[in-house]
Amino acid sequence: MGSLEGKHIVLGITGGIAAYKSAVLLRLLIKRGAEVQVVMTPSAKEFITPVTLSALSGKPVVSEFFTANTGEWHSHVDLGLWADLMIVAPATASTLGKMANGIADNMLVTTYLSAKEHVMVAPAMDLDMYASPSTRRNLATLAADGVEIIEAAEGELASHLVGKGRMAEPEEIVERAERFFSRRQDMVGMKVAITVGPTYEKIDPVRFIGNYSSGKMGFALAEECVSRGAEVIAVTGPVAAYPSDSRINIVKVESALEMNEEALKAFRTADIGIFAAAVADYRPETYSDHKIKREGKDEMIIRLVKNPDISSNVSEEKKEGSILVGFALETDDALDNAHKKLEKKNLDMIVLNSLEDKGAGFRTDTNKVTVIARDGFKKAFPLKYKREVAADIVDIILEQQKKIKIK
Ligand code: CTP
Repeated sequence: MGSLEGKHIVLGITGGIAAYKSAVLLRLLIKRGAEVQVVMTPSAKEFITPVTLSALSGKPVVSEFFTANTGEWHSHVDLGLWADLMIVAPATASTLGKMANGIADNMLVTTYLSAKEHVMVAPAMDLDMYASPSTRRNLATLAADGVEIIEAAEGELASHLVGKGRMAEPEEIVERAERFFSRRQDMVGMKVAITVGPTYEKIDPVRFIGNYSSGKMGFALAEECVSRGAEVIAVTGPVAAYPSDSRINIVKVESALEMNEEALKAFRTADIGIFAAAVADYRPETYSDHKIKREGKDEMIIRLVKNPDISSNVSEEKKEGSILVGFALETDDALDNAHKKLEKKNLDMIVLNSLEDKGAGFRTDTNKVTVIARDGFKKAFPLKYKREVAADIVDIILEQQKKIKIK
């Protein structure tokens, strides 16, 4: 049986030179047993004919909202419901922009907007277009919306310039599709608890001590786990944006003390606990219930007292067989310090991100991490979107969990 046997895949093809590779991609998907419906944008037909694609897929290609001579209406809603996966390859800058902004002026984008399941895009364009702020912004928006980005590769482009912008090879795209289906429901029956975001430590009714954590990495992990079938509870400090997936149970807190209390409850029954929050290590010793006035004060001293270490507290009450994962953000002797934290906090794994890496850490859509585990495991990943980083981290958690169970 093929690895994609019985899977319904919508293959969206847009107008770029790389569209010729879509025929190979289509063949590979079909060979692995998938049922594929091709949806083309009008301009894609300038690059590859619908005849080739319908012959390969064994289905008429859909491109317009209706067939001109018969008036037959093509329902993008039905297609969106039918698809277990939608792959847009190649995805031009223009289609990415339309997808990111909901400009539904063709069958491909309307199908995307109706797609209920996972969507992947494999961009292809010239290097300057690929690097342009607008494309970067659209890709970041799509990634935040849960779309999987199969980054373009380096190489010679249609313009004969050499750089990043070549569509990923069909084999790689097929591999991603296989990976998506194989791990799609590998967390059914598992309970995951995650701490997310910053904590705010009140000074007076209008002021607090906080940090730049956006909660994006924690929520990417929550979304990844929930999409793989886990039951997820996220104990979340104040953030600007919450995930749209209503399957994630969110418990809102503000201070480290509140987070500690809620985390202790949430993590008690969890099979997997992840500490992704940037907890303030200290809080003001006293809270003024009146706004502190500046009159008559040349300086201001706020005495801080230590907050509880949530990860250590939780690990003391660790459920048998559960796995606890911390994050560490280090500026010096990163690996050494991460190993020390693993021991001190009695965790099973640490995800290390360094602030020195551009695009990694706070307030970004991307992250570059190294994961270490108690048994000496260590793996460094390149810079990726946070959702992809989340998938990598979850893969390792599940591997580690198996090892713990075997012991
Ligand atoms: N953490 C926690 N409670 C705290 C502080 C940290 O649960 N009060 C968790 C974080 O969520 C993270 C891990 O511990 O998963 C490491 O956080 P980090 O700030 O790097 O470590 P600290 O223990 O605060 O050490 P330091 O700031 O001195 O490096």
